Amino acid sequence: AQQRTLSIIKPDAVGKNAIGDIIARFEKAGLAVVACKMLHLSQEKAEGFYAEHRERPFFNDLVGFMTSGPVVVQVLEGDNAIAKNRDLMGATDPKKAEAGTIRADFASSIDANAVHGSDSPESAEREIDYFFAADEICPRG
Ligand code: CMP
Repeated sequence: AQQRTLSIIKPDAVGKNAIGDIIARFEKAGLAVVACKMLHLSQEKAEGFYAEHRERPFFNDLVGFMTSGPVVVQVLEGDNAIAKNRDLMGATDPKKAEAGTIRADFASSIDANAVHGSDSPESAEREIDYFFAADEICPRG
């Protein structure tokens, strides 16, 4: 089924000038960019995005990393977009990511892991609404 998912190109990948390479992987896999913006997250915005991880030991490092430089936030649309994006990204820990995945090729640690992608339809809906107003999304077709 057609789905939307939220993708973030994280500060490490932006710093490596890999925005285009990463977006090309989404497009080649049949996912369309229907919304896109670059922004430097405030601490408050990053903490709100990752609120479900607030009690985890890695929360402060995660927020510190995500506010360390600009990110590119996109809505990807396509058939089975949530799982497809997660396949393209590979495992959260780049040491465990399969060869040829975005994290295997661009990530250097579990925090500096190049990309984020929504993990369920419920989180996709929340995450898309967190960054985009309805009129900032441009559906295809
Ligand atoms: P992301 O998909 O953005 O969601 C939460 C992030 O926390 C995750 O990617 C990792 O970058 C980061 N993180 C750091 N340590 C861990 C951990 N032990 N388990 C899961 N995520 C972690």
